[in-house]
Amino acid sequence: MNIVGIIDQILNYMGNLNHRPIEEPKDLFTVIFKPFVEGFPQSQLTMRVHAAMKVKELRDQFKVEHDIEAQIFQIDLAILQDDKLLQDYDIKEGTEIKYFGILAPVLLDIGVFDEDHYGRLGSEILKQGGECDVKGVVEGLKGNANAKYELYEPGLITEQSIIMLKEFADKRYESERVDDLKIPLHRVDLIELTSEKEVKALERLFSCQYNEILIRRCEAHGKFINFHLDHSKRTLQVALNDDFQGGKLIYLTGGQMHTPARLAGSITIHENDIVHGVSLLNSGIRYGLFMLQT
Ligand SMILES: [Fe+2]
Repeated sequence: MNIVGIIDQILNYMGNLNHRPIEEPKDLFTVIFKPFVEGFPQSQLTMRVHAAMKVKELRDQFKVEHDIEAQIFQIDLAILQDDKLLQDYDIKEGTEIKYFGILAPVLLDIGVFDEDHYGRLGSEILKQGGECDVKGVVEGLKGNANAKYELYEPGLITEQSIIMLKEFADKRYESERVDDLKIPLHRVDLIELTSEKEVKALERLFSCQYNEILIRRCEAHGKFINFHLDHSKRTLQVALNDDFQGGKLIYLTGGQMHTPARLAGSITIHENDIVHGVSLLNSGIRYGLFMLQT
């Protein structure tokens, strides 16, 4: 099997999750790691490798150089076997290996914008609006019928910080071109983009031991996030803008649909017992900052 075949297998395995098109399949070998690994601040790195290296050695080298686990080796050992050499997979001497922090089950924590949701509970409402059978959807998804969420007015994050965060996401988009881009951040990165005072204020508000921070930049037009329960125990979201059409966060609780007014700078916090989804994004770019306790 050559490298193109391997990449195809990987992407098939991953199903319909977003991925960056691979522009130079002959020269690049793409490894998909688990994003949001602590200690790993960026979503893309590159490294040159030797063809005579064993797959296991490559995996170990990832660990040593970047302190990350290359999850793809664990996803399907039939694709890449530890005791094989890279050249057995047509990986040439000096090949540049790219790591993308784009795919992992944990990404489902903030939902996946998708368009093919036929038959999913409540999906018509997210797509077209209208009345929702709240009780039926909440029961169907085994959510808490009286779950709570918190909504805070803008003010905690300054306008200047919001600009910085959006610019950071736009800059990353220039190189990654993913229509629903999720960028993991370190706390120090967040402080650099905002301020220590603001990060501490967010942490006080969130009031838990969170372990992931990310910025999302979404322009997945014509797509929505189905009603679901999060895997993350607790989620804080800062809406970084409100000048897009559609893409409304909708909670189902207390027998009603709640669509909080999420002005730029407003914050919502919820836990993993509340059923929620995001309506179809019609146009514009939707930016958000997340803190997650997974
Ligand atoms: Fe969610």
